[in-house]
Amino acid sequence: MHPVSLCNVGKVYRLGAVEVPALSDITLDIRRGVFTVISGPSGSGKTTLLNLIGCIDTPDQGEIRVAGRAVQSMPDDELSDFRARHIGFIFQSFNLIPVLSAYENIEYPLHLAKVGAAERRRRVQALLEAVGLESRRNNLPAQLSGGQRQRVAIARALATAPGLVLADEPTANLDSQTGAEIIALMRRMQREQDVSFVFSSHDPQVHAEADDVIFIRDGRIVGVELKREVAREVVREGALEVQGERS
Ligand SMILES: Nc1ncnc2c1ncn2[C@@H]1O[C@H](COP(=O)(O)OP(=O)(O)OP(=O)(O)O)[C@@H](O)[C@H]1O
Ligand SMILES: [Mg+2]
Repeated sequence: MHPVSLCNVGKVYRLGAVEVPALSDITLDIRRGVFTVISGPSGSGKTTLLNLIGCIDTPDQGEIRVAGRAVQSMPDDELSDFRARHIGFIFQSFNLIPVLSAYENIEYPLHLAKVGAAERRRRVQALLEAVGLESRRNNLPAQLSGGQRQRVAIARALATAPGLVLADEPTANLDSQTGAEIIALMRRMQREQDVSFVFSSHDPQVHAEADDVIFIRDGRIVGVELKREVAREVVREGALEVQGERS
């Protein structure tokens, strides 16, 4: 089963009488356990696509399946529960809760997923060690460097052991050295847990690490770069015709 499947997905933003088509005819399957990067110029629809996959927003057309579930037809309370358990987010601006410490930020999604106290302690401890922030556990986000905040955001996204982690430009606010460390950290965590990563990024370092790259432009898929043979699964038969040329 694919962690994410999209079939003819379209999204139009409406600003008064003006319609902005943000995504059209997106059909793709994301392969399990790999790094997929969504690449495209500013305004091409990357954030919109991640928000749809992450059930933060809903499409106007088509169908989205996450972990085999048709997310559009889930009732709201079921959807928030599903999201809390299955999807981790890493936002470009980190979105840490400013009044919570590093420890508490990582613990927060475990509260949402109703994980018990002992198990929460065990997981947060393990994650703090994994991202190398044991000694900063009581620091507030404002008392951390940008790279350290990003590491807290990664640990938080992985806290519930989700099958899918979405990251919107995860290295955009980091220098290249810190960016490389963050990518390596995500790579390691991906290997250790059975998790699929979907990133949006312009960063050549991120592209270099990706298994699959999906190129979008003006809200459409214009190319798919599959770095490994088996990666052919990522796009369904027929989807390639919609996408036109492959790079
Ligand atoms: N809330 C909104 N209301 C109206 N139009 C929007 C909204 N959000 C995005 N758009 C438009 O939809 C298109 C896709 O935007 P999106 O944010 O997905 O692009 P992006 O690829 O993430 O760009 P960037 O690289 O700059 O982050 C753009 O033309 C943008 O102007
Ligand atoms: Mg964006």
